[in-house]
Amino acid sequence: MQNRCVNIIAHLFNAPLGDSEAAIGVGTVGSSEAIMLAGLAFKRKWQNKRKAEGKPYDKPNIVTGANVQVCWEKFARYFEVELKEVRLRDGYYVMDPEKAVEMVDENTICVAAILGSTLNGEFEDVKLLNDLMVEKNKETGWDTPIHVDAASGGFIAPFIQPELEWDFRLPLVKSINVSGHKYGLVYAGIGWVVWRNKVDLPEELIFHINYLGADQPTFTLNFSKGSSQVIAQYYQLIRLGYEGYKNVMENCRDNMLVLKQGLEKTGKFNIVSKDNGVPLVAFSLKDNSSHNEFEVSEMLRRFGWIVPAYTMPPDAQHITVLRVVIREDFSRTLAERLVFDIEKVLHELETLPSRIRITAKIILADDEKVAAANKEKRDLEKTREITTVWRKFVMQKKMNGVC
Ligand SMILES: Cc1ncc(COP(=O)(O)O)c(C=O)c1O
Repeated sequence: MQNRCVNIIAHLFNAPLGDSEAAIGVGTVGSSEAIMLAGLAFKRKWQNKRKAEGKPYDKPNIVTGANVQVCWEKFARYFEVELKEVRLRDGYYVMDPEKAVEMVDENTICVAAILGSTLNGEFEDVKLLNDLMVEKNKETGWDTPIHVDAASGGFIAPFIQPELEWDFRLPLVKSINVSGHKYGLVYAGIGWVVWRNKVDLPEELIFHINYLGADQPTFTLNFSKGSSQVIAQYYQLIRLGYEGYKNVMENCRDNMLVLKQGLEKTGKFNIVSKDNGVPLVAFSLKDNSSHNEFEVSEMLRRFGWIVPAYTMPPDAQHITVLRVVIREDFSRTLAERLVFDIEKVLHELETLPSRIRITAKIILADDEKVAAANKEKRDLEKTREITTVWRKFVMQKKMNGVC
């Protein structure tokens, strides 16, 4: 059943498979494990090539945007690969393909692009990255490959943007991961990694065991796990089919637009997500001088909404956003309700004194108190110093027998 899911997903991602050829991939606990496996395959392939060329192979690196999910940092630290991050900038919150390609060197095991940035849902331009990398590989003689982290977008783009080229249609894309428990519509605990070809997964990473009655190839980080998520994924894939997933994703996108337009209508927010990415709305206050996004998030909890507020990574850390991810069960009515509650929160915040200014005043007052206490301390120390000098002077006089 797992292999059938891998085949369906590989075809969805346009893997170049012959008629009866089986796809190469595996079910994982989530995209994190899938990324560890894909990263290891790239590292091992690069090391093998370097060894064969008689070149050093102890300083592998990987190029990503600073917007990557924490699993990439984990991969880099656990498996000793340097993470070279393209920094973000104001108004541009995903990896810039040109800068990424500039950062690639002979030790780069792969460039990782994200189809659906965790922070604002935006799809990175994998096609441009591929084209620029093809050029650079031609000039340098390297063959730096691309991995696509399609944790969310892998189950969105094929259905609502089938013309978008981000997958195995691009020659340098050698592996892709996707989370079954995001837009794959399965409960938590399932992800997938698929490789372009057999040669992209080094044989030495595959172990063969036979003590369960037949040869069983295994190349996941853990061995035993429950089968329920694989069964649920298979069920969803065949129950919904292409049309079913397409309907769900279109619905999510429509509800995202309702929410986005409702927020825009308040006139209070800048939208930092894109209409053609993951169906989510990331937004920040146009004016956060009196009240900020963290306060909006905190007050929304009173209405039963958990809408996280967070700051963007370097160099856009001064931007704070609120994020609402639209899943299949988030209806149009809920979207309208959320806009209504956000308006109520904004209205309530306007009637409250600015916590930011009060905090600033408290800090100022605290600073003044600290300054006064410091002055007192300095005066006391001076008095002590003078007393000590005088005491010494008087003692000396006493010794000299003058007094
Ligand atoms: C882009 C991206 N990659 C990887 C992950 C990790 O996925 P998982 O939770 O399935 O391990 C996430 C999770 O939010 C993500 O958004």
